Amino acid sequence: MKVLAFETSCDETSVAVVDDFKVMSNVTRTQLEHSRFGGVVPEIAAREHLRYIYQMTKQALDESGSSLEDVEGIAVTYGPGLASSLLVGVVFAKTLSQALEKPLIGINHLEGHIFSVFIDHPELEPPFISLIVSGGHTELVLVEDYLKYELLGETLDDAVGEAYDKVAKMLGLSYPGGPIVDKLANEGDENFVKFPKPRIKKGKYNFSFSGIKTAVRNYIASKGEDFVRKHIKDICASFQRTVVDILLETTLKAVEDFKVDKVAVVGGVALNSLLRKEFPKHIPQVFFPSKQYCMDNAAMIGVAGAYRLSRGFRSSLDLPVEPSLRLV
Ligand code: KG4
Ligand code: ZN
Repeated sequence: MKVLAFETSCDETSVAVVDDFKVMSNVTRTQLEHSRFGGVVPEIAAREHLRYIYQMTKQALDESGSSLEDVEGIAVTYGPGLASSLLVGVVFAKTLSQALEKPLIGINHLEGHIFSVFIDHPELEPPFISLIVSGGHTELVLVEDYLKYELLGETLDDAVGEAYDKVAKMLGLSYPGGPIVDKLANEGDENFVKFPKPRIKKGKYNFSFSGIKTAVRNYIASKGEDFVRKHIKDICASFQRTVVDILLETTLKAVEDFKVDKVAVVGGVALNSLLRKEFPKHIPQVFFPSKQYCMDNAAMIGVAGAYRLSRGFRSSLDLPVEPSLRLV
């Protein structure tokens, strides 16, 4: 089933054409306009989506060798995310759906991330555990079947990517800091500082990253600027080791408790080099999407949309944007 898909929930504008789990085109523009603010500015994000979505749609159709007439449905992220950003994609998709008389399907961004792994690994079948790790999310999900989820745990405070970005900011690095911290960490000593792991009282599979973030802040404040500059790689390595250990230990608990030995790690932080090295050492089968499908992208919304449409799901033209939408 051929689907035209849109993703505008945060600071990536993305348009894709997919045919079931096969991606025919995926055009993504990451907004660099936010980097000097150290975080995403919603007003700027919405305006940039609006500026590019039309020409990117033409490009995605061209690259896939399809016309609007070939498309059998329109998929769009309707939450969670920034309201004004979501609105651009949803209004654009609704307009096309109505004008072309093609079905509209609203997709939960988190379901999109879960489906992103099927693009490179269509052989992966439920049940499996999906660890969604990005700038906005940290969720541990039991995928019992296609479209059937049990939320096992989530972050009680910061998302893991957010913790990376905030630590990067404290160290004077630019946004988004995750990839920079990862790179520096690879050349540092991970035993240099012992950052504390959180003790979670509520929920066995929940996460917390605000404690380690504060520990890094206090550590930096207690040392001089010269010391921090000299040991920036060691601080990054120590932080990264603690974060990856937290993610791995919690995931391993779920693997053992639910007797599911397949794990998918999805979202921007799934690009992390230590995570990619450590998870396969401890879990029998680990699946990662390739880079363009880890970052926010419309292809993952398209494959989830194609699956839902093929099973008869439809959204009405009243589809709202839901900034706080949950997976289940
Ligand atoms: O999935 P994504 O593109 O957008 C959200 O839905 O948030 O994820 C972006 C996040 C940012 O916080 C970024 O710093 C983080 O993923 N990230 C990384 C790495 N690459 C991207 N974090 C740690 N290590 C990386 N290599
Ligand atoms: Zn995302």
